[in-house]
Amino acid sequence: MSDVLEFADVTLVRSGNRLLDGINWRVSEGERWVILGPNGAGKTTLLQIAATNMHPTSGYVSVLGEVLGGVDVFELRPRIGLTSAALAERIRGSEWVLDVVRTAAYGVLGTWRESYEDLDDSRALGLLVRLGIAHLAGRTFGTLSEGERKRTQIARAMMSDPELLLLDEPTAGLDLGGRETLVAALSEIAADPVSPTTVLVTHHVEEIPAGITHAMLLRSGRVVASGPIGQTLTPDNLAACFGVSLDISHQNGRWSARASARNGG
Ligand SMILES: Nc1ncnc2c1ncn2[C@@H]1O[C@H](COP(=O)(O)OP(=O)(O)O)[C@@H](O)[C@H]1O
Ligand SMILES: [Mg+2]
Repeated sequence: MSDVLEFADVTLVRSGNRLLDGINWRVSEGERWVILGPNGAGKTTLLQIAATNMHPTSGYVSVLGEVLGGVDVFELRPRIGLTSAALAERIRGSEWVLDVVRTAAYGVLGTWRESYEDLDDSRALGLLVRLGIAHLAGRTFGTLSEGERKRTQIARAMMSDPELLLLDEPTAGLDLGGRETLVAALSEIAADPVSPTTVLVTHHVEEIPAGITHAMLLRSGRVVASGPIGQTLTPDNLAACFGVSLDISHQNGRWSARASARNGG
């Protein structure tokens, strides 16, 4: 299988700080990755490089077979779907949900000037159905709950039929019902063989959808552990990543973690 992402000794320095430090990482076609790590670990920075929005200070990065630095990123970006808090903030509250999704076909936010093909309409609607929010197509983005907004953003990220889907904390800030609905939708996407290669960022193991195949644990810009998820999410690796002893369990494809008695509790 071909590499969708390849990072070799990638370092990113900002204001004298090493946000990423010597990252080596390979993602092959069809894999579904979770990036786990505490706040400030460098997860968003890593995803921004994969999205071609940031360039490393040193090291080698290839995305979808193209070497970063040697390729026109504007040709690469339509092949990548991204959701992030920063992108969400740019969506106007007055925008129709269907428009939020279908304007992604043009790689723009906002509805001005484009004329839409019927094909785009049906694809956008199909994605809303897939994310369980078809009934919201005629609502404006500003009237949605946080969970509905997250699902709208994921539909938008998938609109251009990307080869790589990057989701930065898609379940952050949701209540339990919202989280579970979204994790279920993400599990369905992960299980579907036609879905793009996916990298999802979170700092809670409870938010890992079933169907995730690989994990990378990140702390202070460095890889603590990386590989097939079953071998990577071990108590020792999680302790090294989050700085507390954790017991971890895995049931029906989902993970949970809690402080272990070893912490002296
Ligand atoms: N432009 C910048 N200059 C200096 N430090 C930054 C800059 N952007 C982010 N950081 C710092 O880099 C670290 C990693 O940030 P980030 O990738 O957002 O972490 P995460 O997504 O894992 O919470 C944080 O400590 C953050 O404060
Ligand atoms: Mg982040």
